[in-house]
Amino acid sequence: MISTMKPQPEHVVCTDVFKIFKVADLEVVALRGLDLTLYQSEVLALVGASGSGKSTPLNILAGYDSPSAGQVTIAGRDLINMKSSEIEKFHR
Ligand SMILES: Nc1ncnc2c1ncn2[C@@H]1O[C@H](COP(=O)(O)OP(=O)(O)OP(=O)(O)O)[C@@H](O)[C@H]1O
Ligand SMILES: [Mg+2]
Repeated sequence: MISTMKPQPEHVVCTDVFKIFKVADLEVVALRGLDLTLYQSEVLALVGASGSGKSTPLNILAGYDSPSAGQVTIAGRDLINMKSSEIEKFHR
């Protein structure tokens, strides 16, 4: 079958993202190697039990938190290496 749909560019790309919260002597691994690709106009629902790690990736994608390891790009912008002034513009 030949598809006539135009391929959409990759919009959100997470590669091997880890998030570890340190609380006193404890380490909570909230994300363990998240790989995620979302294309423009794609809609994704995050579903899971309380504490399974839904808000954590959303906070990272919004630029409110940074991962412990891995890469995150949105519309080709490298979220990890953004300066705080660039993150401010990104929020706007
Ligand atoms: N600031 C933090 N400090 C320490 N641990 C945290 C912090 N934020 C999240 N965690 C831990 O990381 C894990 C994932 O948390 P997250 O908030 O992403 O879950 P959630 O799926 O959004 O939960 P809920 O459905 O209750 O909103 C949980 O074990 C949580 O206790
Ligand atoms: Mg949550």
